[in-house]
Amino acid sequence: MTINLRRRPAVWLAAAVIALALLASVVAWQREHMPQRSVSFLSGDPIAGGMLFQSKRCSHCHAINGSGGKLAPDLGSGRNTSRANLGQLVTTMWNHAPEMWKRMQQENLRASPMSQSEVSDLFAFLYLARYMDEAGDATKGHRLFETKGCIRCHAIRGEGGVVGPDLANISGVDTPIQWTQTLWNHAPAMEKQFPQTGMPWPRFDKSEMSDMLAYVREVSTSPRSEFRLLPADPVRGWQLFKTKSCIVCHAVQGEGGHIGPDLGVGREAPITMVEFAGAMWNHSPQMFREMNSRGIQRPTFNGQEMADLMAFFSSLRYFEPNGSTEAGRGVFAARGCSRCHGANAEGTSLGPGLRGQRVNSVSLATALWRHGPEMYRRTQSLGIAWPKLNENDLGDLFAFLNSPAEEGRR
Ligand code: HEC
Ligand code: HEC
Ligand code: HEC
Ligand code: HEC
Repeated sequence: MTINLRRRPAVWLAAAVIALALLASVVAWQREHMPQRSVSFLSGDPIAGGMLFQSKRCSHCHAINGSGGKLAPDLGSGRNTSRANLGQLVTTMWNHAPEMWKRMQQENLRASPMSQSEVSDLFAFLYLARYMDEAGDATKGHRLFETKGCIRCHAIRGEGGVVGPDLANISGVDTPIQWTQTLWNHAPAMEKQFPQTGMPWPRFDKSEMSDMLAYVREVSTSPRSEFRLLPADPVRGWQLFKTKSCIVCHAVQGEGGHIGPDLGVGREAPITMVEFAGAMWNHSPQMFREMNSRGIQRPTFNGQEMADLMAFFSSLRYFEPNGSTEAGRGVFAARGCSRCHGANAEGTSLGPGLRGQRVNSVSLATALWRHGPEMYRRTQSLGIAWPKLNENDLGDLFAFLNSPAEEGRR
């Protein structure tokens, strides 16, 4: 390689200026308050959650994938729901709560209150028990393996291409989080090989990546290690967001670089973890180009790092449903919550004010286990029905309850 000596100082100067500007912007960004956090299930400890599932007697009535009680629905992956995410878990639990409490009374059990961190442990456990991600369709995944061109380079049990490894033998397929990490780390090598196939980089739409993962999980023979992944640490994730340079191009909650899209809350539709894997895959070549042109090394992720990063996003409510404050006020009235909590959730003599807390799926479930029985008694004494929620309500409801109280009055 020949280096043009005369031009080098200019290059160095430019690099230094860019680096300084970057440093200044990062420091300024940090001086601003840290992104506001809320509790996320990814920071829960699934082992502790598994123990809670026993000690809180959930297992008395519920099974996980066939093992456990038979008095109530199985909460494991064998369920044939097509979509069972965190929002759905909380809404079904909320809607079924009075029935559940009745059942508990019959069984001489009490709904014991749980702390927020206990609920996130429990959710971490249920998440890994595969309750909470979209169950993909392995048959569709098999078809995608061919139509997206994976088969040109990868074999499954000896059948297919030999450019890349046989996907029946790889590890890192246990959860969408590990899948994201695996794909991300290997994408650069794949991107290099792609031009030889004459195919464009394949893109995955919403549910396709989940079907693909279901297929690879089905054929994979490697030992599973789901439970080594969590608890993930959102604070470490925040560090990684900075050290892996994501912050250079992506803002969270409006602050940070704007070369790529903002990754904080404020998206239209909630994204599932496996959709996140799809998004990272789809945008990989362009991100890579942007990194190259800025002299940024493409980072890789090891061990728990991707889980930590996702815990950070999750603590920003990135994976939570999001919606509009206005619509949320409507939902709050339509479902009957305002009857006791007031039209602006400011509180009445029948129920406390709910504005200005950071409400998300974990805190709503915590509130259900803590305050639900009293709330239920109150509905009975007023002669009104238990207010039920739709899964689609949550985003709007959270937007409304999390908005500052002044906005509500007008
Ligand atoms: C005494 C039995 C009992 C105990 C203990 C119990 N549940 Fe339930 N649970 C039920 C019943 C019964 C239903 C279904 C109610 C209905 O069909 O309306 C239910 C429903 C649910 C649902 C909704 C399931 C669905 O998809 O329809 C979730 C989630 C849930 N329970 C979670 C838990 C958790 C977490 C615990 C422990 C903290 C727990 N339950 C403890 C009896 C119980
Ligand atoms: C043009 C060839 C090519 C195509 C097409 C291709 N891959 Fe790859 N893939 C590779 C190569 C080469 C590697 C090894 C990369 C490395 O060593 O970093 C790889 C690695 C992987 C890995 C990581 C394997 C491990 O060891 O953990 C996964 C997972 C993977 N590919 C999935 C896919 C999927 C899914 C598709 C289809 C959407 C696909 N690949 C399409 C060439 C390809
Ligand atoms: C050099 C700039 C750059 C860096 C560094 C970078 N990205 Fe990106 N990212 C982009 C661009 C540009 C896009 C949009 C690409 C496109 O439209 O195809 C993008 C898209 C994405 C998307 C899809 C977003 C969506 O809403 O669909 C995700 C997720 C993402 N990046 C995550 C990350 C993470 C995590 C890191 C750190 C490991 C990172 N990015 C580092 C530039 C970057
Ligand atoms: C019949 C009156 C009544 C209705 C209807 C009602 N609530 Fe409540 N709610 C209460 C009472 C009373 C409490 C406090 C219970 C306690 O102190 O244990 C409460 C507590 C709560 C809490 C916990 C507050 C905290 O301090 O942590 C939340 C969250 C909540 N309700 C949300 C809702 C939502 C969402 C709806 C509608 C789907 C609703 N409530 C409908 C009476 C009601």
